[in-house]
Amino acid sequence: MALADTLRHIDDQQAVYVEQLKEFIRIPSISSGADTNQRDGISHAANFLVGQFERMGFSAEKVQVCPNTNPLVLAQSAEASPGRPTILVYGHYDVQGVDNLRSAWAVDPFAAEEMDGFLIARGASDNKGPSFAHIKAVEAILAVGDQLPVNLVFLIEGEEECGSRALGQFVAEGGLDRFAPLLCTIISDTSMYGPDKPSLTLGLRGIVYTEVEVYGPKQDVHSGLFGGIVRNPNQLLVDALAGIVDKEGHITVPEFYAGIWPLSAREKSLYAALDVDEEAYCRELGIDSLAGEREYSLLERRWTRPTLDINFLSGGSPRTIIPAQAKAAVSCRLVPGQDPERVRAALEGHIRNRLPEGTRAEFINQHISPAYHLELDHPLVESTLRAMRVGFEIEPVLTREGGSIPIVVDIAAKTQAPVLLVGLGQITDNWHGPNERFSLRDFHRGIRTSAALLHQLGHGSQS
Ligand code: BES
Ligand code: MN
Repeated sequence: MALADTLRHIDDQQAVYVEQLKEFIRIPSISSGADTNQRDGISHAANFLVGQFERMGFSAEKVQVCPNTNPLVLAQSAEASPGRPTILVYGHYDVQGVDNLRSAWAVDPFAAEEMDGFLIARGASDNKGPSFAHIKAVEAILAVGDQLPVNLVFLIEGEEECGSRALGQFVAEGGLDRFAPLLCTIISDTSMYGPDKPSLTLGLRGIVYTEVEVYGPKQDVHSGLFGGIVRNPNQLLVDALAGIVDKEGHITVPEFYAGIWPLSAREKSLYAALDVDEEAYCRELGIDSLAGEREYSLLERRWTRPTLDINFLSGGSPRTIIPAQAKAAVSCRLVPGQDPERVRAALEGHIRNRLPEGTRAEFINQHISPAYHLELDHPLVESTLRAMRVGFEIEPVLTREGGSIPIVVDIAAKTQAPVLLVGLGQITDNWHGPNERFSLRDFHRGIRTSAALLHQLGHGSQS
Protein backbone atom coordinates (compact mmCIF):
# COMPACT_ATOMS: atom_id res chain seq x y z
CA MET A 1 0.00 0.00 0.00
CA ALA A 2 1.03 3.52 -0.51
CA LEU A 3 2.17 6.15 1.93
CA ALA A 4 -0.99 8.09 1.06
CA ASP A 5 -3.11 5.47 2.85
CA THR A 6 -0.97 5.72 5.95
CA LEU A 7 -1.17 9.50 5.93
CA ARG A 8 -4.95 9.37 5.59
CA HIS A 9 -5.12 6.92 8.48
CA ILE A 10 -2.95 9.23 10.60
CA ASP A 11 -5.25 12.15 9.83
CA ASP A 12 -8.30 10.05 10.80
CA GLN A 13 -6.77 8.78 14.03
CA GLN A 14 -5.45 12.09 15.36
CA ALA A 15 -7.96 12.31 18.25
CA VAL A 16 -7.15 8.75 19.31
CA TYR A 17 -3.42 9.43 19.24
CA VAL A 18 -3.88 12.55 21.35
CA GLU A 19 -5.82 10.61 24.01
CA GLN A 20 -3.04 8.01 24.14
CA LEU A 21 -0.39 10.70 24.40
CA LYS A 22 -2.28 12.18 27.35
CA GLU A 23 -2.25 8.81 29.04
CA PHE A 24 1.54 8.62 28.57
CA ILE A 25 2.03 12.18 29.83
CA ARG A 26 -0.08 11.60 32.96
CA ILE A 27 2.53 9.16 34.22
CA PRO A 28 4.90 11.27 36.38
CA SER A 29 8.15 9.65 35.23
CA ILE A 30 10.45 12.17 36.90
CA SER A 31 14.19 11.50 36.81
CA SER A 32 15.57 14.88 37.87
CA GLY A 33 14.77 17.52 40.48
CA ALA A 34 11.88 17.35 42.95
CA ASP A 35 10.00 14.04 43.30
CA THR A 36 12.64 12.13 41.36
CA ASN A 37 11.60 8.49 40.89
CA GLN A 38 8.57 8.98 43.14
CA ARG A 39 5.19 7.33 42.77
CA ASP A 40 6.53 4.54 40.53
CA GLY A 41 6.29 6.89 37.56
CA ILE A 42 9.46 5.55 35.96
CA SER A 43 8.39 1.92 35.87
CA HIS A 44 4.82 2.81 34.87
CA ALA A 45 6.05 4.84 31.92
CA ALA A 46 8.44 2.08 30.84
CA ASN A 47 5.63 -0.50 31.12
CA PHE A 48 3.29 1.75 29.18
CA LEU A 49 5.79 1.90 26.32
CA VAL A 50 6.42 -1.84 26.36
CA GLY A 51 2.64 -2.28 26.05
CA GLN A 52 2.51 0.13 23.10
CA PHE A 53 5.23 -1.79 21.27
CA GLU A 54 3.80 -5.23 22.01
CA ARG A 55 0.42 -4.14 20.67
CA MET A 56 2.16 -3.45 17.35
CA GLY A 57 3.71 -6.89 17.32
CA PHE A 58 7.16 -5.65 18.30
CA SER A 59 9.31 -7.56 20.72
CA ALA A 60 9.89 -5.18 23.60
CA GLU A 61 11.73 -5.36 26.89
CA LYS A 62 12.84 -3.23 29.77
CA VAL A 63 16.61 -3.37 29.98
CA GLN A 64 18.00 -2.90 33.47
CA VAL A 65 21.60 -1.94 32.68
CA CYS A 66 22.75 -1.55 36.28
CA PRO A 67 20.89 -1.99 39.57
CA ASN A 68 20.27 1.68 40.32
CA THR A 69 19.42 3.10 36.94
CA ASN A 70 16.09 3.61 35.23
CA PRO A 71 15.25 0.93 32.65
CA LEU A 72 15.75 1.43 28.94
CA VAL A 73 12.85 0.38 26.77
CA LEU A 74 14.21 -1.55 23.80
CA ALA A 75 11.80 -2.65 21.10
CA GLN A 76 12.32 -4.27 17.77
CA SER A 77 10.03 -4.82 14.80
CA ALA A 78 9.11 -8.42 14.03
CA GLU A 79 10.98 -10.51 11.45
CA ALA A 80 13.96 -8.34 10.62
CA SER A 81 14.51 -8.54 6.90
CA PRO A 82 18.07 -8.44 5.59
CA GLY A 83 16.84 -6.67 2.46
CA ARG A 84 15.64 -3.63 4.36
CA PRO A 85 17.79 -1.08 6.15
CA THR A 86 17.67 -0.92 9.93
CA ILE A 87 16.79 2.36 11.61
CA LEU A 88 17.17 3.27 15.27
CA VAL A 89 14.70 5.67 16.88
CA TYR A 90 15.82 7.25 20.16
CA GLY A 91 13.74 9.18 22.67
CA HIS A 92 13.33 9.59 26.42
CA TYR A 93 10.33 8.85 28.62
CA ASP A 94 11.74 10.56 31.72
CA VAL A 95 10.86 14.15 32.52
CA GLN A 96 12.16 16.96 34.69
CA GLY A 97 10.64 17.52 38.13
CA VAL A 98 8.38 20.45 38.83
CA ASP A 99 10.43 21.73 41.77
CA ASN A 100 9.36 24.93 43.42
CA LEU A 101 7.73 26.19 40.25
CA ARG A 102 4.41 24.45 40.92
CA SER A 103 2.65 27.73 41.68
CA ALA A 104 3.72 29.12 38.32
CA TRP A 105 1.77 26.42 36.47
CA ALA A 106 -1.67 27.35 35.17
CA VAL A 107 -2.75 23.69 35.36
CA ASP A 108 -1.73 20.50 37.13
CA PRO A 109 1.58 19.57 35.43
CA PHE A 110 0.55 15.93 35.10
CA ALA A 111 -3.10 16.34 34.11
CA ALA A 112 -2.28 16.72 30.40
CA GLU A 113 -4.85 19.43 29.82
CA GLU A 114 -5.54 20.75 26.36
CA MET A 115 -5.56 24.49 25.80
CA ASP A 116 -5.70 26.38 22.51
CA GLY A 117 -4.24 23.51 20.54
CA PHE A 118 -1.50 22.71 23.03
CA LEU A 119 -1.08 20.02 25.62
CA ILE A 120 0.16 21.73 28.77
CA ALA A 121 2.15 19.31 30.89
CA ARG A 122 5.58 18.36 32.14
CA GLY A 123 7.23 16.22 29.49
CA ALA A 124 4.68 17.11 26.78
CA SER A 125 7.40 18.51 24.52
CA ASP A 126 10.56 17.22 26.25
CA ASN A 127 10.23 14.47 25.17
CA LYS A 128 7.06 12.37 25.39
CA GLY A 129 5.08 14.02 22.57
CA PRO A 130 7.87 13.99 19.99
CA SER A 131 9.04 10.46 20.74
CA PHE A 132 5.46 9.15 20.83
CA ALA A 133 4.94 10.58 17.34
CA HIS A 134 7.33 7.97 15.93
CA ILE A 135 5.52 5.13 17.69
CA LYS A 136 2.19 6.27 16.26
CA ALA A 137 3.69 6.54 12.77
CA VAL A 138 4.73 2.88 12.92
CA GLU A 139 1.35 1.91 14.31
CA ALA A 140 -0.34 3.67 11.39
CA ILE A 141 1.82 1.97 8.76
CA LEU A 142 0.96 -1.41 10.26
CA ALA A 143 -2.72 -0.52 10.69
CA VAL A 144 -3.27 0.05 6.98
CA GLY A 145 -1.79 -3.37 6.34
CA ASP A 146 1.61 -2.30 5.08
CA GLN A 147 4.83 -4.07 5.77
CA LEU A 148 7.28 -1.83 7.54
CA PRO A 149 9.59 -0.37 4.90
CA VAL A 150 12.56 -0.68 7.28
CA ASN A 151 13.65 -2.81 10.22
CA LEU A 152 13.08 -0.74 13.31
CA VAL A 153 14.71 -0.56 16.70
CA PHE A 154 13.33 1.81 19.32
CA LEU A 155 15.45 2.81 22.27
CA ILE A 156 13.54 4.99 24.73
CA GLU A 157 15.55 5.78 27.82
CA GLY A 158 14.54 6.94 31.28
CA GLU A 159 17.54 9.02 32.31
CA GLU A 160 18.08 11.70 29.70
CA GLU A 161 17.35 14.42 32.23
CA CYS A 162 19.93 13.07 34.65
CA GLY A 163 22.85 12.11 32.46
CA SER A 164 21.92 8.98 30.42
CA ARG A 165 24.12 6.78 32.61
CA ALA A 166 22.46 3.47 31.79
CA LEU A 167 22.21 4.22 28.11
CA GLY A 168 25.80 5.45 28.02
CA GLN A 169 26.94 2.17 29.47
CA PHE A 170 24.63 0.15 27.20
CA VAL A 171 26.01 1.86 24.08
CA ALA A 172 29.63 1.69 25.27
CA GLU A 173 29.32 -2.03 25.99
CA GLY A 174 28.10 -2.73 22.47
CA GLY A 175 24.37 -2.99 23.23
CA LEU A 176 23.59 -1.70 19.74
CA ASP A 177 26.05 -3.96 17.92
CA ARG A 178 23.54 -6.69 17.25
CA PHE A 179 21.48 -4.33 15.10
CA ALA A 180 24.42 -3.37 12.87
CA PRO A 181 24.65 -2.03 10.31
CA LEU A 182 22.29 0.86 10.96
CA LEU A 183 21.34 3.22 8.18
CA CYS A 184 20.74 6.05 10.63
CA THR A 185 19.25 7.07 13.97
CA ILE A 186 16.19 9.33 14.12
CA ILE A 187 15.68 11.61 17.11
CA SER A 188 13.04 14.21 17.84
CA ASP A 189 14.44 15.96 20.91
CA THR A 190 15.28 19.32 19.37
CA SER A 191 13.18 22.31 18.38
CA MET A 192 11.68 23.58 15.16
CA TYR A 193 12.99 26.90 13.88
CA GLY A 194 9.66 28.48 14.75
CA PRO A 195 5.92 27.90 14.47
CA ASP A 196 5.29 26.36 11.03
CA LYS A 197 9.06 26.21 10.46
CA PRO A 198 9.99 22.53 10.45
CA SER A 199 13.72 22.06 10.61
CA LEU A 200 16.35 19.41 10.28
CA THR A 201 19.07 20.12 12.82
CA LEU A 202 22.59 19.65 11.49
CA GLY A 203 24.42 20.18 14.75
CA LEU A 204 24.25 20.18 18.52
CA ARG A 205 26.75 21.88 20.79
CA GLY A 206 28.80 19.78 23.16
CA ILE A 207 29.16 20.50 26.83
CA VAL A 208 31.59 20.75 29.71
CA TYR A 209 29.81 21.26 33.01
CA THR A 210 31.74 21.49 36.25
CA GLU A 211 31.09 22.57 39.80
CA VAL A 212 33.86 24.20 41.78
CA GLU A 213 34.06 24.51 45.54
CA VAL A 214 36.51 26.80 47.27
CA TYR A 215 37.22 26.19 50.95
CA GLY A 216 38.26 28.55 53.73
CA PRO A 217 37.98 28.22 57.52
CA LYS A 218 36.56 24.95 58.81
CA GLN A 219 33.23 26.60 59.55
CA ASP A 220 31.63 30.01 59.05
CA VAL A 221 33.34 32.47 61.44
CA HIS A 222 32.48 35.95 62.76
CA SER A 223 33.88 38.59 60.41
CA GLY A 224 34.40 40.99 63.35
CA LEU A 225 36.51 38.51 65.22
CA PHE A 226 38.48 37.11 62.28
CA GLY A 227 38.02 39.61 59.41
CA GLY A 228 41.43 40.85 58.24
CA ILE A 229 43.33 37.64 58.86
CA VAL A 230 41.30 34.98 57.03
CA ARG A 231 40.94 34.51 53.26
CA ASN A 232 37.30 34.74 52.24
CA PRO A 233 36.20 31.94 49.84
CA ASN A 234 33.47 34.12 48.34
CA GLN A 235 36.06 36.75 47.47
CA LEU A 236 38.48 34.14 46.11
CA LEU A 237 35.82 32.59 43.93
CA VAL A 238 34.46 35.81 42.45
CA ASP A 239 38.04 37.00 41.79
CA ALA A 240 38.89 33.74 40.05
CA LEU A 241 35.78 33.98 37.86
CA ALA A 242 35.93 37.73 37.24
CA GLY A 243 36.34 38.56 33.57
CA ILE A 244 36.16 34.93 32.48
CA VAL A 245 33.90 36.26 29.72
CA ASP A 246 34.92 39.77 28.73
CA LYS A 247 32.68 42.67 27.71
CA GLU A 248 32.96 41.69 24.04
CA GLY A 249 31.66 38.22 24.79
CA HIS A 250 35.06 36.58 24.41
CA ILE A 251 36.03 33.79 26.75
CA THR A 252 39.38 34.53 28.38
CA VAL A 253 40.35 30.97 29.34
CA PRO A 254 43.63 30.31 27.47
CA GLU A 255 43.34 27.71 24.70
CA PHE A 256 39.56 27.74 24.99
CA TYR A 257 39.02 28.30 21.28
CA ALA A 258 41.70 25.83 20.14
CA GLY A 259 40.81 23.57 17.23
CA ILE A 260 37.45 25.07 16.27
CA TRP A 261 36.53 24.23 12.71
CA PRO A 262 35.52 27.26 10.72
CA LEU A 263 31.88 27.41 9.67
CA SER A 264 31.63 26.59 5.98
CA ALA A 265 30.50 29.39 3.71
CA ARG A 266 27.52 27.27 2.67
CA GLU A 267 26.31 26.64 6.17
CA LYS A 268 26.91 30.27 7.10
CA SER A 269 24.78 31.44 4.21
CA LEU A 270 22.00 28.99 5.14
CA TYR A 271 21.72 30.54 8.58
CA ALA A 272 22.08 34.07 7.24
CA ALA A 273 19.00 33.43 5.10
CA LEU A 274 16.76 32.58 8.09
CA ASP A 275 14.44 35.25 9.48
CA VAL A 276 15.66 36.63 12.78
CA ASP A 277 13.76 39.08 14.93
CA GLU A 278 16.06 40.41 17.64
CA GLU A 279 13.26 42.31 19.28
CA ALA A 280 11.13 39.19 19.53
CA TYR A 281 13.97 37.50 21.43
CA CYS A 282 14.17 40.45 23.81
CA ARG A 283 10.43 40.38 24.36
CA GLU A 284 10.36 36.64 24.92
CA LEU A 285 13.27 36.86 27.37
CA GLY A 286 12.19 40.05 29.10
CA ILE A 287 15.47 41.84 28.43
CA ASP A 288 16.32 45.13 26.75
CA SER A 289 19.11 44.04 24.46
CA LEU A 290 21.09 41.00 23.41
CA ALA A 291 24.74 40.40 24.16
CA GLY A 292 27.65 38.33 22.90
CA GLU A 293 30.24 38.43 20.16
CA ARG A 294 29.14 41.22 17.84
CA GLU A 295 31.26 39.88 14.98
CA TYR A 296 28.90 36.89 14.75
CA SER A 297 25.22 36.95 13.87
CA LEU A 298 22.61 36.04 16.45
CA LEU A 299 22.12 32.53 15.06
CA GLU A 300 25.88 31.96 14.74
CA ARG A 301 26.19 32.91 18.39
CA ARG A 302 23.35 30.59 19.43
CA TRP A 303 24.44 27.61 17.35
CA THR A 304 27.99 27.78 16.07
CA ARG A 305 30.01 29.59 18.74
CA PRO A 306 31.13 28.17 22.07
CA THR A 307 29.93 29.72 25.30
CA LEU A 308 30.85 29.86 28.95
CA ASP A 309 28.22 30.50 31.59
CA ILE A 310 28.31 30.73 35.34
CA ASN A 311 25.14 28.78 36.08
CA PHE A 312 25.21 29.00 39.85
CA LEU A 313 27.01 30.91 42.58
CA SER A 314 26.63 30.48 46.31
CA GLY A 315 28.53 30.95 49.50
CA GLY A 316 28.02 32.14 53.03
CA SER A 317 24.83 33.73 54.25
CA PRO A 318 23.56 37.29 54.57
CA ARG A 319 25.09 37.83 58.00
CA THR A 320 28.43 39.19 59.18
CA ILE A 321 30.42 36.04 58.62
CA ILE A 322 33.34 34.78 56.60
CA PRO A 323 32.03 31.61 54.96
CA ALA A 324 33.65 28.20 55.17
CA GLN A 325 33.08 27.62 51.49
CA ALA A 326 31.85 29.04 48.24
CA LYS A 327 30.54 27.19 45.26
CA ALA A 328 29.95 27.83 41.56
CA ALA A 329 28.71 25.83 38.60
CA VAL A 330 30.29 26.71 35.29
CA SER A 331 29.39 25.22 31.94
CA CYS A 332 30.64 25.65 28.42
CA ARG A 333 28.83 24.79 25.21
CA LEU A 334 31.28 23.44 22.67
CA VAL A 335 31.33 23.48 18.90
CA PRO A 336 32.84 21.09 16.34
CA GLY A 337 36.62 20.83 16.60
CA GLN A 338 36.83 21.60 20.32
CA ASP A 339 38.18 18.77 22.45
CA PRO A 340 36.03 18.60 25.60
CA GLU A 341 38.79 17.18 27.78
CA ARG A 342 41.13 19.94 26.69
CA VAL A 343 38.49 22.57 27.45
CA ARG A 344 37.78 21.01 30.82
CA ALA A 345 41.47 21.03 31.73
CA ALA A 346 41.92 24.59 30.48
CA LEU A 347 38.94 25.79 32.50
CA GLU A 348 40.10 24.10 35.68
CA GLY A 349 43.66 25.35 35.15
CA HIS A 350 42.47 28.91 34.57
CA ILE A 351 40.43 28.96 37.76
CA ARG A 352 43.16 27.28 39.83
CA ASN A 353 45.77 29.72 38.54
CA ARG A 354 43.65 32.59 39.70
CA LEU A 355 43.25 31.28 43.23
CA PRO A 356 46.06 32.12 45.69
CA GLU A 357 48.56 29.35 46.19
CA GLY A 358 47.47 26.92 48.86
CA THR A 359 43.73 27.54 48.41
CA ARG A 360 41.81 24.30 48.66
CA ALA A 361 39.49 23.94 45.68
CA GLU A 362 37.63 20.94 44.35
CA PHE A 363 36.25 20.41 40.87
CA ILE A 364 33.32 18.08 40.41
CA ASN A 365 32.84 17.30 36.74
CA GLN A 366 29.34 16.38 35.77
CA HIS A 367 29.01 16.43 31.99
CA ILE A 368 31.54 16.24 29.23
CA SER A 369 30.67 15.67 25.61
CA PRO A 370 31.79 16.96 22.21
CA ALA A 371 29.57 18.67 19.65
CA TYR A 372 27.64 16.73 17.03
CA HIS A 373 27.64 17.74 13.40
CA LEU A 374 26.09 16.23 10.28
CA GLU A 375 27.51 17.12 6.87
CA LEU A 376 25.23 19.23 4.75
CA ASP A 377 25.97 16.95 1.80
CA HIS A 378 25.02 13.72 3.50
CA PRO A 379 22.51 11.99 1.19
CA LEU A 380 20.06 11.39 4.05
CA VAL A 381 19.72 15.16 4.54
CA GLU A 382 17.76 15.42 1.30
CA SER A 383 15.68 12.31 2.11
CA THR A 384 14.73 13.79 5.45
CA LEU A 385 13.81 17.14 3.99
CA ARG A 386 11.62 15.38 1.46
CA ALA A 387 9.78 13.53 4.22
CA MET A 388 9.30 16.76 6.16
CA ARG A 389 7.74 18.39 3.10
CA VAL A 390 5.24 15.53 2.95
CA GLY A 391 4.55 15.57 6.68
CA PHE A 392 4.21 19.31 7.18
CA GLU A 393 3.29 20.48 3.68
CA ILE A 394 5.74 23.32 4.36
CA GLU A 395 9.26 23.87 3.03
CA PRO A 396 11.63 22.84 5.87
CA VAL A 397 14.84 24.63 6.83
CA LEU A 398 18.25 23.44 7.96
CA THR A 399 19.37 24.66 11.36
CA ARG A 400 21.62 23.81 14.27
CA GLU A 401 20.85 23.89 17.98
CA GLY A 402 22.75 25.36 20.88
CA GLY A 403 21.74 22.60 23.29
CA SER A 404 23.42 19.28 23.91
CA ILE A 405 22.32 15.66 23.75
CA PRO A 406 25.53 13.89 24.77
CA ILE A 407 24.23 10.42 23.93
CA VAL A 408 23.80 11.47 20.29
CA VAL A 409 27.56 11.69 19.91
CA ASP A 410 28.02 8.23 21.47
CA ILE A 411 25.34 6.67 19.29
CA ALA A 412 26.74 8.26 16.12
CA ALA A 413 30.28 7.13 16.93
CA LYS A 414 29.32 3.61 17.93
CA THR A 415 26.94 2.95 15.04
CA GLN A 416 29.00 4.84 12.46
CA ALA A 417 25.72 6.15 11.13
CA PRO A 418 24.28 9.65 10.96
CA VAL A 419 21.76 10.95 13.47
CA LEU A 420 18.81 12.76 11.91
CA LEU A 421 17.52 15.38 14.34
CA VAL A 422 13.95 16.19 13.40
CA GLY A 423 12.69 18.42 16.18
CA LEU A 424 8.99 18.81 16.80
CA GLY A 425 9.09 21.23 19.76
CA GLN A 426 9.37 25.01 19.88
CA ILE A 427 11.85 27.12 21.84
CA THR A 428 8.77 28.61 23.48
CA ASP A 429 7.61 25.21 24.78
CA ASN A 430 9.04 25.94 28.26
CA TRP A 431 11.25 22.88 28.52
CA HIS A 432 12.23 22.32 32.17
CA GLY A 433 10.07 25.32 33.17
CA PRO A 434 6.48 25.93 34.25
CA ASN A 435 3.65 25.40 31.74
CA GLU A 436 5.63 23.17 29.41
CA ARG A 437 3.54 22.63 26.30
CA PHE A 438 3.44 20.83 22.99
CA SER A 439 1.52 21.80 19.89
CA LEU A 440 -0.96 19.11 18.90
CA ARG A 441 -0.71 20.27 15.32
CA ASP A 442 3.01 19.55 15.36
CA PHE A 443 2.33 16.22 17.02
CA HIS A 444 0.10 15.37 14.07
CA ARG A 445 2.52 16.69 11.45
CA GLY A 446 5.34 14.92 13.25
CA ILE A 447 3.55 11.56 12.98
CA ARG A 448 3.04 12.19 9.26
CA THR A 449 6.68 13.17 8.84
CA SER A 450 7.86 10.06 10.63
CA ALA A 451 5.74 7.81 8.41
CA ALA A 452 7.00 9.58 5.30
CA LEU A 453 10.59 9.34 6.51
CA LEU A 454 10.38 5.61 7.16
CA HIS A 455 9.02 5.17 3.64
CA GLN A 456 11.77 7.36 2.21
CA LEU A 457 14.50 5.50 4.00
CA GLY A 458 13.04 2.13 3.05
CA HIS A 459 12.37 2.74 -0.58
CA GLY A 460 15.21 5.12 -1.28
CA SER A 461 14.66 7.18 -4.38
CA GLN A 462 11.67 5.13 -5.65
CA SER A 463 9.08 6.85 -3.49
N1 BES B 1 16.30 18.32 24.63
C1 BES B 1 17.40 18.90 25.36
C2 BES B 1 18.57 19.21 24.44
C3 BES B 1 18.39 20.44 23.63
C4 BES B 1 18.36 21.68 24.25
C5 BES B 1 18.31 20.36 22.27
C6 BES B 1 18.22 22.83 23.51
C7 BES B 1 18.16 21.50 21.54
C8 BES B 1 18.13 22.74 22.15
C9 BES B 1 17.88 17.96 26.42
O1 BES B 1 16.82 17.37 27.12
C10 BES B 1 18.71 18.71 27.47
O2 BES B 1 18.18 19.52 28.17
N2 BES B 1 20.03 18.47 27.48
C11 BES B 1 20.94 19.04 28.45
C12 BES B 1 22.13 18.13 28.54
C13 BES B 1 23.13 18.45 29.63
C14 BES B 1 22.50 18.51 31.00
C15 BES B 1 24.25 17.45 29.60
C16 BES B 1 21.39 20.44 28.03
O3 BES B 1 21.51 20.72 26.82
O4 BES B 1 21.59 21.25 28.91
MN1 MN C 1 15.55 18.07 28.58
